[in-house]
Amino acid sequence: MSSNPGLFLLCFLSSGLTIYGVTGQNSTILFVSDTNNIRNCSCSTDIRNCDYSLANLMCNCRTAPFHPRTTYTGRLIVWFSDTSTLGQLLNFTFVRDLKLSSCGPSPLPADYLAIVGLQRLCIYAANLTERRLSIYNNAKSTTEGPSQHPTEVYISYLDTSLFNGQNLKSFSVENVRDISKHFPNLPYPSVISVTDKSYVVTIIY
Ligand SMILES: *[C@@H]1O[C@H](CO)[C@@H](O)[C@H](O)[C@H]1NC(C)=O
Ligand SMILES: *[C@@H]1O[C@H](CO)[C@@H](O)[C@H](O)[C@H]1NC(C)=O
Ligand SMILES: *[C@@H]1O[C@H](CO)[C@@H](O)[C@H](O)[C@H]1NC(C)=O
Ligand SMILES: *[C@@H]1O[C@H](CO)[C@@H](O)[C@H](O)[C@H]1NC(C)=O
Repeated sequence: MSSNPGLFLLCFLSSGLTIYGVTGQNSTILFVSDTNNIRNCSCSTDIRNCDYSLANLMCNCRTAPFHPRTTYTGRLIVWFSDTSTLGQLLNFTFVRDLKLSSCGPSPLPADYLAIVGLQRLCIYAANLTERRLSIYNNAKSTTEGPSQHPTEVYISYLDTSLFNGQNLKSFSVENVRDISKHFPNLPYPSVISVTDKSYVVTIIY
């Protein structure tokens, strides 16, 4: 096990650069526009958290019927106001670089959100400092996609009650063959069938 304390840094610099040195990449902001539609905005600049009208003004936005996805590429920002929407959009999806902004009433109920392949996470909740966590860094990875790690599947379980407090902590357990044996209380990722692979399980709380 390794401990990974959150760093108190801004998630992205305002120029649209990331602190990891990736330039010229738009972020995608996703939010629910009404019950059956999601709004999907491609933004070249940083938009203040949960500022829907600014996003509509500054970004290239589309509205589309909601379809469950399994993979998101690029830098994804999700503005949500309840955990069930968050779960519908993201539970058991593959996302590398994720920012979650809680835009609704607080506190949020405790639940688990499972993300596959998560490398970088940023958390925002009203009245709290943005918090950032780096889960793993694979210097060799150059392409996007879930087939990145042929022998290890990274899966992160995020406790949604972390939006209510100031902490962001994580620990990882490597070489997990059977998640239900190691973590009997966690939802098992039945969407990923791995027989010859092992998991790196990260708990974020
Ligand atoms: C956003 O919309 C574009 C165009 O409809 C689509 O290609 C892209 O996959 C969407 N992204 C997300 C994360 O839904
Ligand atoms: C990047 O975002 C800008 C608006 O912020 C938009 O005009 C442009 O089309 C976006 N580029 C891509 C590739 O989506
Ligand atoms: C994610 O899926 C698991 C398993 O189905 C479920 O227990 C959990 O409540 C879901 N999380 C959210 C935030 O919807
Ligand atoms: C944030 O702080 C303001 C002023 O103290 C308060 O009115 C508001 O309810 C707080 N928001 C949340 C989500 O706690």
